[in-house]
Amino acid sequence: MTDELYERAVAVAGRAYAPYSNYLVGAAVLARDGRVFEGVNVENAAYPLGICAERAALSRAVADGCRPGDLEAIGITAAPCGGCRQWLYEFRLERVTFRNAGGEVVTYTPAELLPEAWELD
Ligand code: THU
Repeated sequence: MTDELYERAVAVAGRAYAPYSNYLVGAAVLARDGRVFEGVNVENAAYPLGICAERAALSRAVADGCRPGDLEAIGITAAPCGGCRQWLYEFRLERVTFRNAGGEVVTYTPAELLPEAWELD
């Protein structure tokens, strides 16, 4: 399933809206009940307003009723940025799989990607 999720992310990346960076990112999140939520990065002419593929996918899952603990794994076509790592940590995913800068498909936990993570008391 981990490889399948990564392949779903690759397939959806082509639907990214990234006319400013031309950097297309796809993400696919697996819920514990078997649903898969896909997301892509969506950019904006006001650059900081763009959203990453991971956050788009997680937002879709939340809109469909998922909460932290309901999501099992995510496949991403690129290494998640720092902000997305905080989101992945929030939703307590078990596995985060992506193609790293060396071209290798790797899997980590959110805590491995964000050691000593900040949490609200
Ligand atoms: N991007 C993502 O979608 N996810 C990440 O974790 C890293 C960056 C997007 C944001 C922007 O649209 C493009 O990649 C270039 O930064």
